[in-house]
Amino acid sequence: MTKIVLKGANLLAPLPVVMVSLGTEKPNIITVAWTGIVCSAPPRVYISVRHDRYSYDLLKQSGEFVINFTTEKLLAACDWCGIRSGRDVDKFAEMRFTKGNASAVKAPLIEESPINIECKVFDAFDLGSHDMFLADVLAVDVDESLLDGNGAIDYSRADLVSYQHGEYYATGRHLGRFGFAAQRKYVKNYGKGKDAMSDSPLTKRNTRAQKNDRRIK
Ligand SMILES: Cc1cc2nc3c(=O)[nH]c(=O)nc-3n(C[C@H](O)[C@H](O)[C@H](O)COP(=O)(O)O)c2cc1C
Repeated sequence: MTKIVLKGANLLAPLPVVMVSLGTEKPNIITVAWTGIVCSAPPRVYISVRHDRYSYDLLKQSGEFVINFTTEKLLAACDWCGIRSGRDVDKFAEMRFTKGNASAVKAPLIEESPINIECKVFDAFDLGSHDMFLADVLAVDVDESLLDGNGAIDYSRADLVSYQHGEYYATGRHLGRFGFAAQRKYVKNYGKGKDAMSDSPLTKRNTRAQKNDRRIK
């Protein structure tokens, strides 16, 4: 692998791309990719929003928002909400989205999105171009058809979209479970001086999956 060094830039990828609904009297939607988990217990997340966004003042005033996940079906609406301002248009009306009642915050959730995270801001930092709003996750609303037999979300069925430096990508191909690399069947083949890239069972499994993909096409 030959590498070239680029100057410092925000190339971290993949990122979630979500629609954040906020405000009460005239609720708005802003598309956000600068978002993530910042703490497990208590569950806490952030969104970073530029000062000049219409949503910025709504956030400052209400201190609440809902993160609505973007599926492949909702991608065009998500993109549109990221290139139009709530100053000029009613994004709920234009996208024919249904305002759903959240259980723990006053901001509406987007009914058409299968997973909604209800958040309450507890702090904000001016970091430069963006303010980072840190929030407690008060409730999560999930389409019950996404739950598996154990009540966990089966993300492989959700058709979620990721964002990678200006481009949208599909997600959803399951590759393994947290901790799978510690299982004996993997450990005995992996590491111990073996070439991690060429001889990983995971790589073999991918190759089989790719062959299947080709056959289906
Ligand atoms: C894929 C994508 C990701 C975006 N991520 C952010 C973000 O993280 N923070 C932000 O302030 N604006 C982000 N934007 C831009 C806003 O969504 C956009 O400026 C929007 O029109 C603001 O809406 P508003 O004026 O109604 O608040 C993003 C736009 C797109 C298309």
